[in-house]
Amino acid sequence: TTVEWEAESYDMGGHDTYMHKEIHEQVDAVDRVLRGRIDDRFSTVRLGGLNLDAREARGVRRVKILGCGSAYHTGLIGAQLIEELARIPADAEPASEFRYRNPVVDPDTLYIAVSQSGETYDTLAAVQELKRKGARVLGVVNVVGSAIARETDGGVYVHAGPEVCVVSTKCFTNTAVAFALLALHLGRIRDLSVADGKRIIDGLRKLPEQIAEVLRGEQEIEKLAAEYANAKSMMFVGRVRGYPVAREASLKLKEVSYIHAEAYPASELKHGPLALIEPEVPTVAVLPDDDLLEKNRATLEEIKARSGRILAVAHREQEKADHTIVVPRNEPELDPILMGIPLQLLAYHTALALGRDIDKPRNLAKSVTVE
Ligand code: AGP
Repeated sequence: TTVEWEAESYDMGGHDTYMHKEIHEQVDAVDRVLRGRIDDRFSTVRLGGLNLDAREARGVRRVKILGCGSAYHTGLIGAQLIEELARIPADAEPASEFRYRNPVVDPDTLYIAVSQSGETYDTLAAVQELKRKGARVLGVVNVVGSAIARETDGGVYVHAGPEVCVVSTKCFTNTAVAFALLALHLGRIRDLSVADGKRIIDGLRKLPEQIAEVLRGEQEIEKLAAEYANAKSMMFVGRVRGYPVAREASLKLKEVSYIHAEAYPASELKHGPLALIEPEVPTVAVLPDDDLLEKNRATLEEIKARSGRILAVAHREQEKADHTIVVPRNEPELDPILMGIPLQLLAYHTALALGRDIDKPRNLAKSVTVE
Protein backbone atom coordinates (compact mmCIF):
# COMPACT_ATOMS: atom_id res chain seq x y z
CA THR A 1 0.00 0.00 0.00
CA THR A 2 0.98 3.64 -0.27
CA VAL A 3 1.66 3.88 3.45
CA GLU A 4 4.16 1.00 3.34
CA TRP A 5 5.93 2.54 0.38
CA GLU A 6 6.21 5.85 2.20
CA ALA A 7 7.43 4.13 5.35
CA GLU A 8 10.18 2.35 3.48
CA SER A 9 11.31 5.54 1.83
CA TYR A 10 12.38 7.04 5.17
CA ASP A 11 15.90 6.28 6.29
CA MET A 12 16.16 4.02 9.34
CA GLY A 13 19.31 5.83 10.44
CA GLY A 14 20.91 2.71 11.93
CA HIS A 15 17.87 1.77 14.07
CA ASP A 16 16.09 -1.57 13.73
CA THR A 17 12.63 -0.09 13.99
CA TYR A 18 10.99 3.28 13.38
CA MET A 19 9.71 3.25 16.93
CA HIS A 20 13.26 3.12 18.28
CA LYS A 21 14.41 5.76 15.82
CA GLU A 22 11.53 8.06 16.69
CA ILE A 23 12.05 7.68 20.45
CA HIS A 24 15.65 8.77 19.94
CA GLU A 25 14.66 11.64 17.65
CA GLN A 26 12.87 13.34 20.53
CA VAL A 27 15.93 15.36 21.56
CA ASP A 28 15.97 17.13 18.19
CA ALA A 29 12.20 17.16 17.80
CA VAL A 30 11.66 19.05 21.07
CA ASP A 31 14.38 21.47 20.10
CA ARG A 32 12.48 22.06 16.85
CA VAL A 33 9.09 22.79 18.45
CA LEU A 34 10.76 25.43 20.64
CA ARG A 35 12.91 26.99 17.95
CA GLY A 36 12.13 30.59 17.03
CA ARG A 37 9.17 30.76 19.40
CA ILE A 38 10.65 31.95 22.70
CA ASP A 39 10.42 35.66 23.43
CA ASP A 40 12.78 36.34 26.35
CA ARG A 41 11.99 40.03 26.41
CA PHE A 42 8.45 39.41 27.60
CA SER A 43 9.04 35.94 29.10
CA THR A 44 6.52 34.45 26.71
CA VAL A 45 6.32 32.66 23.37
CA ARG A 46 5.27 33.81 19.92
CA LEU A 47 2.93 31.48 18.06
CA GLY A 48 2.66 32.81 14.53
CA GLY A 49 -0.27 30.76 13.27
CA LEU A 50 -2.52 31.01 16.31
CA ASN A 51 -4.85 33.60 14.83
CA LEU A 52 -6.11 34.62 18.27
CA ASP A 53 -5.27 38.16 19.34
CA ALA A 54 -4.64 39.20 22.93
CA ARG A 55 -8.13 40.66 23.35
CA GLU A 56 -9.71 37.44 22.10
CA ALA A 57 -7.39 35.37 24.30
CA ARG A 58 -8.53 37.35 27.34
CA GLY A 59 -12.14 36.64 26.47
CA VAL A 60 -11.73 32.86 26.58
CA ARG A 61 -13.76 31.46 29.50
CA ARG A 62 -13.12 27.74 29.00
CA VAL A 63 -10.92 25.50 26.89
CA LYS A 64 -12.08 22.16 25.52
CA ILE A 65 -9.52 19.87 23.90
CA LEU A 66 -10.52 17.06 21.53
CA GLY A 67 -8.51 14.19 20.06
CA CYS A 68 -8.25 10.41 19.91
CA GLY A 69 -5.84 7.93 21.50
CA SER A 70 -2.44 9.46 22.23
CA ALA A 71 -3.65 12.82 20.93
CA TYR A 72 -6.43 12.76 23.54
CA HIS A 73 -3.83 11.97 26.21
CA THR A 74 -1.76 14.98 25.19
CA GLY A 75 -5.01 16.92 25.50
CA LEU A 76 -5.28 15.80 29.13
CA ILE A 77 -1.77 17.18 29.71
CA GLY A 78 -2.63 20.33 27.75
CA ALA A 79 -5.76 20.96 29.82
CA GLN A 80 -3.75 20.74 33.05
CA LEU A 81 -1.09 23.09 31.66
CA ILE A 82 -3.70 25.62 30.55
CA GLU A 83 -5.42 25.52 33.93
CA GLU A 84 -2.13 25.83 35.82
CA LEU A 85 -0.43 28.49 33.73
CA ALA A 86 -3.37 30.48 32.34
CA ARG A 87 -5.96 29.72 35.05
CA ILE A 88 -8.63 29.02 32.43
CA PRO A 89 -10.87 26.02 33.22
CA ALA A 90 -9.91 23.36 30.69
CA ASP A 91 -10.64 19.74 29.97
CA ALA A 92 -10.10 17.13 27.28
CA GLU A 93 -12.52 14.62 25.79
CA PRO A 94 -12.20 11.91 23.14
CA ALA A 95 -13.29 13.57 19.89
CA SER A 96 -15.57 10.68 18.97
CA GLU A 97 -17.53 10.92 22.23
CA PHE A 98 -17.88 14.65 21.83
CA ARG A 99 -19.27 14.56 18.31
CA TYR A 100 -21.91 11.96 19.08
CA ARG A 101 -23.42 13.60 22.13
CA ASN A 102 -24.92 16.72 20.55
CA PRO A 103 -22.51 18.96 22.49
CA VAL A 104 -23.51 22.33 23.91
CA VAL A 105 -21.26 24.72 22.00
CA ASP A 106 -20.45 27.82 23.95
CA PRO A 107 -19.18 30.98 22.19
CA ASP A 108 -16.75 31.81 25.04
CA THR A 109 -15.10 28.39 24.89
CA LEU A 110 -11.95 27.92 22.87
CA TYR A 111 -11.95 24.48 21.23
CA ILE A 112 -8.68 22.78 20.34
CA ALA A 113 -8.41 19.74 18.06
CA VAL A 114 -5.26 17.63 18.49
CA SER A 115 -3.93 15.23 15.88
CA GLN A 116 -0.62 13.90 14.63
CA SER A 117 -1.88 13.04 11.14
CA GLY A 118 -4.48 15.77 10.94
CA GLU A 119 -6.66 13.20 9.16
CA THR A 120 -8.33 11.25 11.99
CA TYR A 121 -11.96 11.04 10.95
CA ASP A 122 -13.53 11.40 14.40
CA THR A 123 -11.43 14.45 15.23
CA LEU A 124 -12.13 16.02 11.84
CA ALA A 125 -15.87 15.38 12.26
CA ALA A 126 -15.77 17.02 15.72
CA VAL A 127 -14.08 20.08 14.18
CA GLN A 128 -16.71 20.25 11.43
CA GLU A 129 -19.54 19.92 13.95
CA LEU A 130 -18.01 22.76 15.99
CA LYS A 131 -17.54 24.98 12.96
CA ARG A 132 -21.11 24.31 11.89
CA LYS A 133 -22.25 25.60 15.29
CA GLY A 134 -20.09 28.71 15.02
CA ALA A 135 -17.30 27.83 17.46
CA ARG A 136 -13.71 29.01 17.31
CA VAL A 137 -11.48 25.94 16.83
CA LEU A 138 -7.70 25.83 16.92
CA GLY A 139 -5.53 22.89 15.87
CA VAL A 140 -2.49 21.35 17.52
CA VAL A 141 -1.39 19.27 14.56
CA ASN A 142 1.80 17.66 13.27
CA VAL A 143 1.18 17.25 9.54
CA VAL A 144 1.30 20.64 7.85
CA GLY A 145 -1.61 21.30 5.49
CA SER A 146 -3.58 18.23 6.68
CA ALA A 147 -7.39 18.22 6.76
CA ILE A 148 -7.65 19.28 10.42
CA ALA A 149 -4.99 21.96 9.93
CA ARG A 150 -7.01 23.33 7.04
CA GLU A 151 -10.40 23.23 8.75
CA THR A 152 -9.31 24.96 11.97
CA ASP A 153 -9.13 28.74 12.44
CA GLY A 154 -5.45 28.67 13.41
CA GLY A 155 -3.21 26.75 15.74
CA VAL A 156 0.20 25.49 16.70
CA TYR A 157 2.21 23.13 14.53
CA VAL A 158 3.93 20.40 16.50
CA HIS A 159 7.01 20.04 14.23
CA ALA A 160 7.77 16.47 15.30
CA GLY A 161 8.74 15.56 11.73
CA PRO A 162 7.38 12.44 9.99
CA GLU A 163 6.25 9.73 12.41
CA VAL A 164 6.15 6.35 10.68
CA CYS A 165 5.65 3.86 13.51
CA VAL A 166 1.95 3.24 14.18
CA VAL A 167 2.67 3.83 17.85
CA SER A 168 3.11 7.51 18.57
CA THR A 169 6.17 8.58 20.57
CA LYS A 170 7.93 11.73 19.41
CA CYS A 171 4.69 13.32 18.31
CA PHE A 172 3.17 12.69 21.73
CA THR A 173 6.08 14.45 23.43
CA ASN A 174 6.20 17.34 20.97
CA THR A 175 2.45 17.86 21.25
CA ALA A 176 2.76 18.09 25.04
CA VAL A 177 5.50 20.70 24.56
CA ALA A 178 3.32 22.57 22.05
CA PHE A 179 0.60 22.69 24.74
CA ALA A 180 3.12 24.06 27.23
CA LEU A 181 3.89 26.84 24.73
CA LEU A 182 0.22 27.60 24.21
CA ALA A 183 -0.47 27.58 27.96
CA LEU A 184 2.48 29.89 28.57
CA HIS A 185 1.30 32.22 25.82
CA LEU A 186 -2.24 32.37 27.21
CA GLY A 187 -0.89 32.66 30.75
CA ARG A 188 1.33 35.62 29.98
CA ILE A 189 -1.56 37.43 28.28
CA ARG A 190 -3.53 36.90 31.48
CA ASP A 191 -2.09 36.65 35.01
CA LEU A 192 1.05 34.53 34.82
CA SER A 193 3.94 36.57 36.26
CA VAL A 194 7.13 37.43 34.42
CA ALA A 195 9.04 35.30 36.95
CA ASP A 196 6.83 32.28 36.34
CA GLY A 197 7.01 32.82 32.60
CA LYS A 198 10.78 32.84 32.82
CA ARG A 199 10.78 29.77 35.05
CA ILE A 200 8.76 27.80 32.47
CA ILE A 201 10.94 29.02 29.60
CA ASP A 202 14.08 27.93 31.47
CA GLY A 203 12.42 24.56 32.06
CA LEU A 204 11.49 24.17 28.39
CA ARG A 205 15.04 24.96 27.33
CA LYS A 206 16.37 22.20 29.58
CA LEU A 207 14.12 19.55 28.03
CA PRO A 208 16.26 18.38 25.07
CA GLU A 209 19.30 17.67 27.26
CA GLN A 210 17.15 16.02 29.92
CA ILE A 211 15.49 13.82 27.30
CA ALA A 212 18.99 12.81 26.15
CA GLU A 213 19.78 11.93 29.77
CA VAL A 214 16.67 9.71 30.04
CA LEU A 215 17.61 7.99 26.77
CA ARG A 216 21.09 7.28 28.09
CA GLY A 217 19.41 5.07 30.69
CA GLU A 218 18.00 2.78 27.98
CA GLN A 219 20.03 -0.29 28.97
CA GLU A 220 18.60 -0.21 32.48
CA ILE A 221 15.08 0.03 31.09
CA GLU A 222 15.80 -2.88 28.74
CA LYS A 223 16.65 -5.01 31.79
CA LEU A 224 13.47 -3.93 33.53
CA ALA A 225 11.43 -4.78 30.45
CA ALA A 226 12.83 -8.33 30.53
CA GLU A 227 11.77 -8.55 34.15
CA TYR A 228 8.19 -7.39 33.56
CA ALA A 229 7.55 -8.93 30.11
CA ASN A 230 5.97 -12.02 31.69
CA ALA A 231 3.21 -9.96 33.33
CA LYS A 232 -0.35 -11.21 32.87
CA SER A 233 -1.60 -7.63 32.94
CA MET A 234 -0.17 -4.31 34.08
CA MET A 235 -1.64 -1.48 36.10
CA PHE A 236 -0.53 2.13 35.52
CA VAL A 237 -1.28 4.75 38.14
CA GLY A 238 -0.61 8.43 38.74
CA ARG A 239 -2.21 11.45 40.36
CA VAL A 240 -2.99 14.74 38.59
CA ARG A 241 0.16 15.38 36.51
CA GLY A 242 1.10 11.72 36.66
CA TYR A 243 -2.29 10.45 35.51
CA PRO A 244 -2.16 11.34 31.78
CA VAL A 245 1.36 9.86 31.73
CA ALA A 246 -0.05 6.63 33.18
CA ARG A 247 -2.85 6.62 30.56
CA GLU A 248 -0.44 7.08 27.69
CA ALA A 249 2.06 4.51 29.02
CA SER A 250 -0.73 1.96 29.38
CA LEU A 251 -1.89 2.57 25.79
CA LYS A 252 1.70 2.34 24.53
CA LEU A 253 2.31 -0.99 26.27
CA LYS A 254 -0.89 -2.61 25.04
CA GLU A 255 -0.52 -1.36 21.46
CA VAL A 256 2.98 -2.64 20.95
CA SER A 257 3.42 -5.59 23.36
CA TYR A 258 -0.23 -6.83 23.48
CA ILE A 259 0.03 -7.12 27.27
CA HIS A 260 -3.26 -6.09 28.82
CA ALA A 261 -2.87 -2.85 30.74
CA GLU A 262 -5.12 -0.49 32.62
CA ALA A 263 -4.57 3.05 33.82
CA TYR A 264 -6.21 4.57 36.86
CA PRO A 265 -5.81 7.68 38.97
CA ALA A 266 -3.87 6.32 41.96
CA SER A 267 -6.68 7.42 44.27
CA GLU A 268 -9.19 5.21 42.40
CA LEU A 269 -7.33 1.96 43.11
CA LYS A 270 -9.07 1.45 46.41
CA HIS A 271 -12.47 1.87 44.76
CA GLY A 272 -12.15 -1.41 42.88
CA PRO A 273 -9.05 -2.15 40.80
CA LEU A 274 -7.07 -3.10 43.91
CA ALA A 275 -8.88 -6.45 43.60
CA LEU A 276 -6.71 -7.19 40.54
CA ILE A 277 -3.38 -6.71 42.29
CA GLU A 278 -1.28 -9.89 42.64
CA PRO A 279 2.37 -10.71 41.85
CA GLU A 280 1.54 -11.43 38.16
CA VAL A 281 -0.08 -7.99 37.82
CA PRO A 282 2.66 -5.42 38.43
CA THR A 283 2.01 -1.70 38.78
CA VAL A 284 3.86 1.13 37.11
CA ALA A 285 3.51 4.20 39.33
CA VAL A 286 4.28 7.70 38.09
CA LEU A 287 5.31 9.76 41.11
CA PRO A 288 6.87 13.14 40.55
CA ASP A 289 8.37 14.90 43.54
CA ASP A 290 5.42 17.25 43.90
CA ASP A 291 3.04 17.91 46.76
CA LEU A 292 1.25 14.62 46.05
CA LEU A 293 4.32 12.45 46.65
CA GLU A 294 3.23 11.39 50.15
CA LYS A 295 -0.22 10.40 48.88
CA ASN A 296 1.42 8.43 46.09
CA ARG A 297 3.68 6.66 48.54
CA ALA A 298 0.64 5.58 50.52
CA THR A 299 -0.70 4.03 47.31
CA LEU A 300 2.54 2.09 46.89
CA GLU A 301 2.04 0.72 50.40
CA GLU A 302 -1.47 -0.42 49.54
CA ILE A 303 -0.11 -2.25 46.50
CA LYS A 304 2.75 -3.83 48.46
CA ALA A 305 0.31 -5.05 51.11
CA ARG A 306 -1.36 -7.10 48.30
CA SER A 307 2.07 -8.45 47.19
CA GLY A 308 2.03 -6.43 43.99
CA ARG A 309 5.31 -5.67 42.24
CA ILE A 310 5.98 -1.97 41.64
CA LEU A 311 8.03 -0.12 39.05
CA ALA A 312 8.20 3.57 39.94
CA VAL A 313 9.03 6.48 37.66
CA ALA A 314 10.17 9.22 40.01
CA HIS A 315 12.68 11.96 40.72
CA ARG A 316 14.41 9.83 43.35
CA GLU A 317 14.65 6.20 44.38
CA GLN A 318 11.39 4.94 45.95
CA GLU A 319 11.86 2.54 48.86
CA LYS A 320 8.47 0.91 48.52
CA ALA A 321 9.01 0.14 44.84
CA ASP A 322 10.81 -2.93 43.54
CA HIS A 323 12.50 -0.78 40.91
CA THR A 324 12.70 2.95 40.27
CA ILE A 325 13.47 4.72 37.03
CA VAL A 326 14.85 8.09 38.12
CA VAL A 327 14.16 10.99 35.75
CA PRO A 328 15.76 14.45 35.97
CA ARG A 329 13.88 17.25 37.69
CA ASN A 330 12.43 20.13 35.77
CA GLU A 331 9.64 22.57 36.61
CA PRO A 332 6.71 20.62 38.12
CA GLU A 333 4.29 21.73 35.39
CA LEU A 334 6.57 20.09 32.80
CA ASP A 335 6.94 16.76 34.65
CA PRO A 336 4.52 14.85 32.38
CA ILE A 337 6.71 15.56 29.35
CA LEU A 338 9.85 13.89 30.72
CA MET A 339 8.15 11.15 32.72
CA GLY A 340 6.50 9.65 29.66
CA ILE A 341 9.76 8.97 27.86
CA PRO A 342 11.19 6.06 29.92
CA LEU A 343 7.78 4.39 29.61
CA GLN A 344 7.98 4.57 25.82
CA LEU A 345 11.27 2.68 26.12
CA LEU A 346 9.67 0.20 28.51
CA ALA A 347 6.88 -0.52 25.99
CA TYR A 348 9.42 -0.81 23.19
CA HIS A 349 11.75 -3.23 24.99
CA THR A 350 8.85 -5.30 26.32
CA ALA A 351 7.54 -5.70 22.77
CA LEU A 352 11.04 -6.56 21.55
CA ALA A 353 11.47 -9.19 24.28
CA LEU A 354 8.14 -10.71 23.23
CA GLY A 355 9.07 -10.66 19.54
CA ARG A 356 6.25 -8.35 18.42
CA ASP A 357 5.97 -6.55 15.09
CA ILE A 358 6.87 -3.21 16.62
CA ASP A 359 6.27 -0.76 13.78
CA LYS A 360 3.04 -2.39 12.63
CA PRO A 361 1.15 -3.84 15.60
CA ARG A 362 -1.68 -6.19 14.70
CA ASN A 363 -5.14 -4.69 14.03
CA LEU A 364 -3.90 -1.07 14.02
CA ALA A 365 -3.43 1.64 11.38
CA LYS A 366 -1.34 4.78 11.67
CA SER A 367 -4.28 7.05 11.03
CA VAL A 368 -7.88 6.07 11.43
CA THR A 369 -9.62 7.85 8.57
CA VAL A 370 -12.88 5.89 8.88
CA GLU A 371 -15.68 6.08 11.42
C1 AGP B 1 -0.96 6.23 19.19
O1 AGP B 1 0.08 5.42 19.64
C2 AGP B 1 -2.05 5.54 18.50
N1 AGP B 1 -1.63 4.72 17.42
C3 AGP B 1 -3.36 6.27 18.29
O2 AGP B 1 -3.98 6.29 19.54
C4 AGP B 1 -3.34 7.70 17.71
O3 AGP B 1 -2.77 8.57 18.61
C5 AGP B 1 -4.77 8.12 17.35
O4 AGP B 1 -5.31 7.25 16.39
C6 AGP B 1 -4.88 9.55 16.89
O5 AGP B 1 -4.16 9.79 15.72
P1 AGP B 1 -3.87 11.25 15.23
O6 AGP B 1 -3.01 11.90 16.24
O7 AGP B 1 -3.19 11.10 13.89
O8 AGP B 1 -5.18 11.97 15.12
